[in-house]
Amino acid sequence: INIVFLGPPGAGKGTQSAKLVEEYGIVQISTGDILRKAVKSGSELGKLAKKYMDEGKLVPDDVIIGIVKARLQQDDCKNGFILDGFPRTIPQAEALDNMLKNELNIELTHIISLNVPDELIMERLTGRRSCSKCGAAYHIKYNPPKKEGICDACGGELVQRDDDKEETINKRLKVYHEQTEQLQEYYKDSGKFFEIDGVGEQEIIFERIKEIVK
Ligand code: AP5
Ligand code: ZN
Repeated sequence: INIVFLGPPGAGKGTQSAKLVEEYGIVQISTGDILRKAVKSGSELGKLAKKYMDEGKLVPDDVIIGIVKARLQQDDCKNGFILDGFPRTIPQAEALDNMLKNELNIELTHIISLNVPDELIMERLTGRRSCSKCGAAYHIKYNPPKKEGICDACGGELVQRDDDKEETINKRLKVYHEQTEQLQEYYKDSGKFFEIDGVGEQEIIFERIKEIVK
């Protein structure tokens, strides 16, 4: 199973990826997570990425493509992967096609678009909390931890992402509609493109995904 997850910020790509990882033993490759780790470590990549991320803008294609290429070459991707948050532009999608075909000899099996209307995104993202230790995602209303501010899984402190401020969320949504949404067209005729209604309970959405992936 080699999946690409498409969908606006806050659609639930990360949430559903975690469930797929558990169910199928495949790896999640989240370019957002990779960049946030780099920011935290203070590396050159992190310094560069932070400027874009804080503004809700996309990090330049060549940087992201290099990161994904290196990641896909690692052995643990051989059993299957989920690309979460990549590709996000047409050049990224073309580069992905290219590296899969010409360098890695791997095929995508499913391109899944998680559809959630803009009106629901703001509440999802302003209410999101993530574990500072293990990265697990929560929502203060839809998926609250047992103990406020504390991760159920590891006891770590729950924090809010820097780019989950109202102003930045609006910018990210705009960027999504301008640059990423058109990937639906790009993949539509691949025979592997599936649209899923991303509204509803997380478990129900996971059932919808399993129907496709099984
Ligand atoms: P990235 O980290 O990829 O952020 P994103 O695409 O904006 O997606 P999110 O992580 O915000 O949302 P999600 O769909 O994973 O939702 P989640 O499951 O957490 O990117 C961040 C930045 O990095 C970008 O802005 C850019 O600068 C840079 N970047 C990353 N990739 C790049 C690339 N390829 N090219 C260039 N730049 C790149 O859910 C959200 C919340 O909703 C959670 O609280 C969750 O609990 C809750 N929730 C989930 N499902 C449901 C449900 N069914 N009902 C109610 N609540 C729900
Ligand atoms: Zn945790």
